[in-house]
Amino acid sequence: MKGIILSGGAGTRLYPLTKVTSKQLLPIYNKPMIFYPLEKLLEAGIKEILIIVAPDHCGDYMKVLGSGKEFGPGVRFTYEIQDKPVGLAHAYIMAENFLDDGDSSAMILGDNLFDYDFTSAIQNFKSGGMVFAKEVPDPERFGVVKLDENNKAIKIVEKPKEFLSNLALTGMYLFDHRAVEIAKNVQASERGEIEITDIQNWYLQKGELNVEVLDGNWIDAGTFESYYRANQWAYDKEHKN
Ligand code: TTP
Repeated sequence: MKGIILSGGAGTRLYPLTKVTSKQLLPIYNKPMIFYPLEKLLEAGIKEILIIVAPDHCGDYMKVLGSGKEFGPGVRFTYEIQDKPVGLAHAYIMAENFLDDGDSSAMILGDNLFDYDFTSAIQNFKSGGMVFAKEVPDPERFGVVKLDENNKAIKIVEKPKEFLSNLALTGMYLFDHRAVEIAKNVQASERGEIEITDIQNWYLQKGELNVEVLDGNWIDAGTFESYYRANQWAYDKEHKN
């Protein structure tokens, strides 16, 4: 399994902080934000990682992260520049060369922080898709999944206008290699993005999508309120003993 960190985007909600650098390089307590999702991939034993960045800040990423060698033996980073933030599923199109040996991938968003160890999900992954859901008070902000009584996904909707469930899909996705071809065939949505929900729905319709409900904390650090909360969470984790 290879890793992908999607770390482009505009970061407009954190303006003016994101005038000088990328959102995912801003500090969360004592580390750049991207270290947290990166550590989740490394913890699960992933060593080859594609980092997708926006054109304005790609030099900053190389300064901070380098080749990968500082992060452990055999760790190797590859970089791709995403010219425009055209959607989360676009990552799979950008990853086509990186995944050219037919590998599965674990993709994590560069601004998503988890108190959850994905090692067993990643190491036991064989094929199909796997997503991770978390109960939230404001599901209308996210991709949302409805589960049946056996925890099987029956419906996924991006930012639902009508209540579907309170289970948001978090920014960690395990897909087999078919995700690349699926992404290439996805039509842009009304908001002009290639939506990750379309990839998830493709696997769901084939009966090949598994959903794990997370018990640990999950923070999408993209707003000032959640960015502040992420800093408190990281501080508390460091000082809990
Ligand atoms: P968002 O938080 O939805 O978008 P953003 O980071 O551009 O922020 P804002 O809405 O404030 O302008 O993106 C979620 C994550 O995915 C974040 O880490 C950025 C990344 N992303 C990309 O790398 N490329 C994309 O095309 C999109 C849509 C997001």
